[in-house]
Amino acid sequence: MLALAYLILAFLEVFLVLASPAQETFASTNKPYDVQAHRGGRGNTVENTVQSFAWGLVDGATTLELDNGITSDGEVVVWHDNQILAEKCIDTRPAFPDDPTYPYVGKLIANLTLAQIKTLDCGSKRRTDFPQQLLYPGARIPTLQEVFDFVECVDPSHRILWNIESKINPEHPNRTASVGDFVQKQHAIFSASPYHRSITYQSFDWRTLIAMKELDPLIPTSALIDEETAFTPDNSTSPWLGGLHLDSFPGPSLGQKMAQAARAINADILSPCGTCFIPSFVTSEVEPDLTTQAMVREAHILGLRVKPFTMNGLARIDELFQFGVDGIITDYPGIVRRWAKQQGFMVAPRHPKQRVFSCLEKHLQVIRG
Ligand SMILES: *[C@@H]1O[C@H](CO)[C@@H](O)[C@H](O)[C@H]1NC(C)=O
Ligand SMILES: *[C@@H]1O[C@H](CO)[C@@H](O)[C@H](O)[C@H]1NC(C)=O
Ligand SMILES: *[C@@H]1O[C@H](CO)[C@@H](O)[C@H](O)[C@H]1NC(C)=O
Repeated sequence: MLALAYLILAFLEVFLVLASPAQETFASTNKPYDVQAHRGGRGNTVENTVQSFAWGLVDGATTLELDNGITSDGEVVVWHDNQILAEKCIDTRPAFPDDPTYPYVGKLIANLTLAQIKTLDCGSKRRTDFPQQLLYPGARIPTLQEVFDFVECVDPSHRILWNIESKINPEHPNRTASVGDFVQKQHAIFSASPYHRSITYQSFDWRTLIAMKELDPLIPTSALIDEETAFTPDNSTSPWLGGLHLDSFPGPSLGQKMAQAARAINADILSPCGTCFIPSFVTSEVEPDLTTQAMVREAHILGLRVKPFTMNGLARIDELFQFGVDGIITDYPGIVRRWAKQQGFMVAPRHPKQRVFSCLEKHLQVIRG
């Protein structure tokens, strides 16, 4: 009886997928609103894991947003921090007996091999600021190739979009691989993937955006900017903006200058912090927003799109939507997708849980070997 009920439910699911209204599907003329699952959807699942991308697909994100680091043996891994943080990962064992580098927590990605990184359990710790995160004890830091392979299993027609960041810090060149290593190694994986032309390359370190455009002029780049990378307390040139100083742009407002600077490096998208304020050493105004209507207008005039991060509150999302932003990077893709639908936008399809989790199971078997 139960088996029959499951069978009926399974059929119903297939039927619902096939019969879902047109607004649930992509059409070449009518693109879905760009709801980006930040690190796969950090609000829902331990970040940047294959499991978080699985839930991003189930939740119907348009774009999977993620970070890259480069290991000491030159592998491109999907992780946000330059260093393995104790808030997110725990050591399990040395990669080989008497490894002098062990323990690995606290070490730099750039100083660990992929084999060492693969021993870490980064699925057992829930972030205190994201109390709804699902844990996946034993989850490993994936390589970019592994994430592409897993998502391709779910999405064989390659409809999902990507926003992939270089996690490099120009203030600390010794903590990561170089600009050249990032760009070449990331691009090698991008260009070998069927997703090559579905990838946006983003960074706070605009040097990598300039270098990537040189290597691959067709790749869209997204210039990330926040209050820490745009300004310096002593008004020196910020190391983040590829040698540009915001004051050398006509403005008149800071938001307009940021759009002009992003245009100057030939970026396609400006991605400002949507919830940040201009620091008090720059202006005497009280907590002026970094992302403004003037910024969005100027960016549009210059031919850039604007996709602010990391937006979780619908009040500010409503406000930025009034400014005309072209997408939202969020820790809660399911909630922002529902919001986008309510605004009358098309949204990306949700991927059926059954397929997503059977691909996940297959993927985990492959990486366990
Ligand atoms: C930083 O890197 C440079 C060259 O890459 C090297 O010469 C220098 O010793 C390094 N410094 C530290 C503190 O590791
Ligand atoms: C790695 O470790 C060495 C030795 O401890 C150090 O000199 C170097 O700066 C570290 N960082 C990188 C990115 O290699
Ligand atoms: C900050 O530096 C820029 C570039 O060097 C300069 O044009 C500008 O006048 C400076 N602003 C202030 C407030 O000193």
